[in-house]
This record gives sequence, structure tokens and C-alpha cells, in this order.
Amino acid sequence: MWSLRLLEVDRAERPVVWPCGWWCGKVVWEGGVGAFQSGRVPPSSASGTLRSAESIRMNPPMHKREFLKSLGGTTIAAMLPALVGPALSTRAANLSAFELARDEEFWTALRGKYRLNPDYINLENGYYSMMAQPVLEAYLEHIRAVNYRAAHYMRRSADSERELSRAALARVAGCDVEELAITRNTTESLDLVFAGHDWRQGDEVVFAEQDYGTMQSMLELLAARHGIVCRRVSVPLDPKSDAELVELYAAAFTPRTRLLLVPHMINITGHILPVAKIAARAHEQGIFVAVDGAHAFAHLEFRIPDLGVDAYAASLHKWLGCPLGAGLLWVKKSRIEELWPLIAPPANRAKGDIRKLNHLGTHPVQTDLGLRDAIAFHEEIGIARKEARLRHLKQYWLTRLVGQPRIRINTPSDPARSCGIGNVGIEGLRTAELEKRLFEEHRIFVVGIDTAGVDGVRVTPHLYTTESELDRFVDAMRRLAAG
Ligand SMILES: Cc1ncc(COP(=O)(O)O)c(C=O)c1O
Repeated sequence: MWSLRLLEVDRAERPVVWPCGWWCGKVVWEGGVGAFQSGRVPPSSASGTLRSAESIRMNPPMHKREFLKSLGGTTIAAMLPALVGPALSTRAANLSAFELARDEEFWTALRGKYRLNPDYINLENGYYSMMAQPVLEAYLEHIRAVNYRAAHYMRRSADSERELSRAALARVAGCDVEELAITRNTTESLDLVFAGHDWRQGDEVVFAEQDYGTMQSMLELLAARHGIVCRRVSVPLDPKSDAELVELYAAAFTPRTRLLLVPHMINITGHILPVAKIAARAHEQGIFVAVDGAHAFAHLEFRIPDLGVDAYAASLHKWLGCPLGAGLLWVKKSRIEELWPLIAPPANRAKGDIRKLNHLGTHPVQTDLGLRDAIAFHEEIGIARKEARLRHLKQYWLTRLVGQPRIRINTPSDPARSCGIGNVGIEGLRTAELEKRLFEEHRIFVVGIDTAGVDGVRVTPHLYTTESELDRFVDAMRRLAAG
């Protein structure tokens, strides 16, 4: 049995206790090894104030494994009543996700958990979404803790902590942990899959003009290197049906097609594609289906295995609100073995172990820890509520602009085909100019898109975005359109 005893600590090393009963501080295992750790304080000693080291006891003493398990969920105060207050938390529990999406009081309270720049309205959350304050604070603690233990952390804890984070991420993805690897971003995840194939000259790959630029570039790079053939389709903005999209992709398949890349949510328009249906059609021809889920993960409610694809990639610093430099790669168990790693893993990694793909050498392990805090925050809100709120925000501004003089909407007209991301342009006003004027004249930050036939600014609100901010955006667009 292990038991824990807190060290006599100086001011800088005092443990911090949050109101929900999580603490972080310096402890020693009986036997002498000191470490910054965190865990749940027994209810009797949780008070919500900073406590002295002596006043905190792990009670009863836990076996080390149990203790680590208790760290698996979170190290932050991510309980909904702590985030928005008990009254709003209770109200949320009694409302449907659809109803809650329209409850400004609830979302304004949650907004208080983010530190927002007052100089502008940020409607460009699709690139990188800031961490909520509790996640950021926990992350800063992780940086200190890892630095404090240094090589001791790397040798004794880094691997097991990463495994805990992988398990938490698998829970969010709804998948078997053995099919999931933590990476740095979507780029790395998809490039691992693309470059991991055993390419033969004349093999073909299919993707869309609307796929993310560097994903297309990677396939072109492989084409130049291995003599494979790239076939592009162009996804219409307003398909009449899912079948039209399935047929669009199917028309590009040939007996030589080996890989299909599909975006789950097109980053420039917000268009959500019927990935499962497209994948089912590709599988009739034995084609490997890789999905770019950079914008769909932690934005839409789904379980990765339900899509019936072979590989799925996402960036966790976008909609999951993780520290920068976190991504995931999911590969169907039966397809892991055939992929070659890009960087050699340790010699004892089995070919069927997905972790053979993400070996990096020494890397910023605090990101692995911050991942669990972001997950805890995300799970407290709940994906159904998050999806409903993001869709509501997009519909809120879009319905107020559609049909207005000179306004051009570059997002599918069927609201079910998009969620939080939308795109809008103004006839006769260059997109770069529109982006600039929105910022300089109206203090609204968006990104201009002028690629693959899409000409307009991408608008990506987040959970902290309010309807009144969107009113300002709508007003600014109407004024600019009026000339
Ligand atoms: C659709 C899509 N795929 C891939 C990426 C690349 O993401 P990252 O830079 O996090 O790898 C992005 C980035 O915005 C994207 O929008």
C-alpha cells in the first residue's frame, strides 16, 4: 500500500484547492519521492480557499494505482455549477439542448470563464480556440509541475500520464483506446496516414478542391515522389441530396483508387459532408477512407467508429479548447498494421499498436496533461449543448443577412448541412478589403477566404460569443454592403 503525506512546503509550493475540491500541490509518496501532483480532496477538507499544506490529507491512503486513476478525469474545477452558478446549472439540466442554445444568460455566464480581448470581437475561432481560464490555469500548473520534476517526470510519469489522457480522449471520441493516438494536429495525423501507405506507381487518390490546402499538397508531394495520380472533385455548395455527393466522389473512383480523403466539415464554408455514406460507397471498391475532422471533432455530436471510415484526424486546439499543439489520429484496428511509421518507434512496439505511428521523441508533455483539463471542461458543457449553441449562433447572424442587398452567403442553405462555421461575402467588395474594414472600422476579427471558388469572410463564433456581438457583426455587414 502507498500512502501520501504532504511535505512541509514553503509559500511557493503551497497546494491550491479549488471550490469543487480539486487540489494541486507538492506531495511525497511514503518512501520519499517528492512531486507536484493533483487530486480530489476528501469532502471533509474541501473549502474553496487556499489551504495550508498541513490541512490536506488523502484519506484514506490510496494505493498508487487508485490515486493515478483519480487523476484520470480532470485536475480543474470543471463542474457546471462552479462554471455558471448553481441556478443556471439547474436550469440547464431542465432544458433541451435546443432550448439552452437560446438562453443568453447561461452562455453569458460561461463567457465569464474566458479571458477575452476587449479590443475586438473574435469571430475567428476556427483557427485556434483559446483555452477557458480554468483550463489555462491548470495548464500553467502542469508546466510548473513538469519543470519541477524534470527528468524524473519524464522517466517515471510521462508515459502513464499520456495513457490517461489517451483514455480520456477515447471516451470523447467514443472509440476503443487501442485505435487512438495523440498527435500534435490534423496535419501530422493525416500526413502520417498518407505517407504510411505502401504506394505503387499508378495508384490513385481522390480528394476535393475544398480540402485543406496542405492536405492536398501532401498528396501532390507523394504523387511527385511515388508516381501516384491525384484526382480532384469539386463539392457543390448546395447539393440536392447526400446521394449527389456520394455519386460525385464515386464518379472519380477507378479500379486503381487506393485512398479517398473526405473533409468532415469544409473549413472555408462550414459544409458538413455525409462522410458515412461516402465511405460506404468507397468501401465497395476497397478504398481506404481517411477523414479530415479538423473542424468536426468536439463541434458535432458523433462517435468516430460510427462513421465507418478507416482513419480520422482532428486538431484538439480548435473546438476542444486544448493547449496549442494537440491532435488525434484514429485508425480502425484492422488497418493499423499496414501503415508505415514516419518516425521510427521504440523497437518493441508491435505493428498493430497505433502508438507506432506517433512516436516523436521528447516533446512538450504538458500538452498531454492539459488535454484532460480541456476534456473535463468540454464534458461539463456537453457536446449536444455545444453543437446546438454553435449552430444557433451561425443561424442567428446568417438569417439576418441572407437576402440583404449585395450579401452573398457561401454556406449551404440547408441548416443541417452546417453548424458553427459560416461564410459570407459582399458583391463588389474584395474579400481582403472586407476583412480589413471589418477589423479597422468595426473591431470585428474574421478571416477572408478566396480559394476554391469561395469568396467571403469565414465567421466562426465560439461558446463565449453572444447574440449582441453578432448583432454588431450583422450591422457592420449591412453598413458595408450599403457602401
Ligand atoms: C480542414 C482542415 N484540415 C486541416 C487543418 C490543419 O490543422 P492543423 O494546423 O491544426 O494541423 C485545418 C486548419 O485550419 C483545417 O481547417
